[in-house]
Formats: sequence, C-alpha cells, structure tokens
Amino acid sequence: MDKKIKWGILSTGHIAGKFADALVLLPGAELAAVASRDMDSAKKFAEKYQIPKAYARYQELADDPDIDVVYIGTPHAFHLENSVMCMRKGKAVLCEKAFAINADEAREMVRVAKEENVFLMEAMITRHIPLIKKVLAWISESLIGEVRMVKASRCARGEFSLGGRHLNPALGGGSLLDVGIYVISFASMIFGKSPVESIGLSHIGDWGSDEQGVAILKYDKGEIADLSFALRTVAVNDAYIFGTEGYIKVHDVFAVPTKASLFINKQEKEVIEEPLIGNALNYEAKEVMRCLKEGLKESPLMPLEESIQIMEIMDHIRKPWGLVYPNDHGI
Ligand SMILES: NC(=O)c1ccc[n+]([C@@H]2O[C@H](COP(=O)([O-])OP(=O)(O)OC[C@H]3O[C@@H](n4cnc5c(N)ncnc54)[C@H](OP(=O)(O)O)[C@@H]3O)[C@@H](O)[C@H]2O)c1
Repeated sequence: MDKKIKWGILSTGHIAGKFADALVLLPGAELAAVASRDMDSAKKFAEKYQIPKAYARYQELADDPDIDVVYIGTPHAFHLENSVMCMRKGKAVLCEKAFAINADEAREMVRVAKEENVFLMEAMITRHIPLIKKVLAWISESLIGEVRMVKASRCARGEFSLGGRHLNPALGGGSLLDVGIYVISFASMIFGKSPVESIGLSHIGDWGSDEQGVAILKYDKGEIADLSFALRTVAVNDAYIFGTEGYIKVHDVFAVPTKASLFINKQEKEVIEEPLIGNALNYEAKEVMRCLKEGLKESPLMPLEESIQIMEIMDHIRKPWGLVYPNDHGI
C-alpha cells in the first residue's frame, strides 16, 4: 500500500478548518499536526479534527520531521514568512491565495522553493474544480471560436471587523488581494499569458483598504478581461468567456462552481452540471499529493511563474490607488 502523505496545517482560522474537513475525503492523506500561535486554539482544533499533534508555535510544525507538506492558512501578510520557514525545513508547501502581498514576496517564495528543491503551490481553488477542466476542454475544442473577452465578477458582502483580516491593510486586507485575485487568476488561466496593459479603479473605504474595484486587462492580440471584485457589495460570482463563434457562462464559479453553459448563436447548446465533492478544497489537496507522488516541484495547473505574474498585475493596478501594505517596498 502507498505511504500516506502527512499534512500539517499552519493556523487554526476559518479556512484552516475547511481544509481539515477536505483532507478527510482523501484516503492517501493523513492530517498529522496543527500549529497555532496559541496552544488552546491548537488543542481545540486538534481535538475537533482528531489530529495527533498540536503545536503552540508555527516553527515547531516546520521542525517536525514527520510532516511532508504544510498548508498555510494565515492572512496574506504572513504567507512569505510562513512558507519560507517551512520550506527551509524541507517541507512542501500549499499556500493560500493571495500567494503573497506583492510580486517581490512571491518571487522570494519561489526562489526559496527552488533553492530548497521543494514543492510549492498557490492554493487557487478554481484551477482544480472538475467543471473548470470541462470548460477548458470546450475552449480547446474551439467550440466558441477564438477567445476574445473574459468578464468575471467575484463579489460578496461580508460583515467585517476592523481587527479581522479582510479589510485590514496591516494584514493585506482589501478586495483586490482577497477576491480580485480570483478573477485575475481566472483571466490568466483562460488567456494563458500576461496582459500587455492593465488598469484598475477602486474605492478605498474608511479603514484604508479597497472595498471594491475593477480591473481591465488587455492582451497582445487585443483580447480583453473585464473584472470586478468587492467585499461590501452584493453582486454575482459568474464568469463569461466570449469568443468569435459563441460564449460560455460559468455560473457562480467563484462560489459554487457546478454549472457551465455553452451558447452558440445566442442559443444554449450544451450544459454541464458537475456537483462538487466535499467543500472543493479536497481537489487542490489531491493535486498537491499527485505532484508529490510524481516528484514534481510545482503543479502545471498553477505554475509558480504564473503566481508571480498575477502578483505583478495586482501590484501594477493598485499602485495609483496609494494602497500600501507592509513590505511593499518599491510598489
Ligand atoms: N481558498 C479559499 O476559498 C479561501 C477562503 C477564505 C480564505 N482564504 C485565504 O486564507 C487565508 C486565511 O483566511 P481566513 O479567512 O481563514 O482568515 P482567519 O479566519 O482570520 O484565520 C487566519 C488565521 O491566521 C493565523 N494568524 C497568524 N497571524 C495572524 C494575525 N496577525 N492576525 C490574524 N490571524 C493570524 C490565526 O491562526 P492562529 O491563531 O491559530 O495562529 C488565524 O486564525 C487568507 O490568505 C485568505 O485569502 C482562502
């Protein structure tokens, strides 16, 4: 029988719990340790998910020789520090989105991964959803002709506290890094290249972070992505891919991605309905384990160079907004 892959979870927040739920669905995964900044929190989390080891310092998880791969679920402002710490101890790392605060940090993470010869991936869930793989197949079969435009929106209205991570600039808060990254990454996946021009507008709220914004990206053959993102606005979470012969709508793709429709001559020609298994974080964890088993140091579904390019786009469009995060030297 194959040896199980031993996971450690770094942090005990909202998404860390969801990730623990997701691992249960993967027979090849063993959730072996959790680390928090607080022992009570680590113990509670360990009890809830029946994890044998609980640590009160992140460093202890990085030092644990039994752990193969660490899932980083801290706010974006700590992704560089936390992932470098784990990679320096030879751990593979799956790091939540936004991969980092800025492109410099992302480059440093990738540099360390290569230096230590360890696996590293940004946890961009959309890339691993089975429905998305079918949508990409429609595109590669040229069912909508040549792809010319992408229109996508990732918006939600949350009730956030100032101390919480979502809108707190000290923790990398704001709509661009939190949810804008989904739509930018989606456009990057569809066009498979970096834009040649990019601009963005945002509204900076009372707490000094961007509460909502738009980005327009233009590519070398005139393709355009029209993207919106918000944390305090109720809006849709759909994506459209417009081509020369037709278009695709991916319904609720950034919330519950289970349905896509193909339109030719304005008529719905085909619909895919693909229910999610679990909370969907299991798909990205599965991809990490596939890569580790095959000895890959990065996933072809979310290449490291692309994670850097996405951070570069975000750096560029937010520069005129005057939004500055910690470690934002040179932005
Ligand atoms: N893929 C997805 O669908 C998805 C969904 C939500 C969030 N995320 C990403 O996951 C990351 C965490 O988001 P979340 O919603 O889980 O946040 P959260 O509930 O606030 O949890 C973050 C955790 O990070 C740890 N942490 C370390 N230093 C911290 C600090 N100075 N302030 C606050 N927390 C600190 C804490 O764990 P300890 O107290 O245990 O140390 C905290 O519980 C973000 O980068 C976010 O973008 C991804």
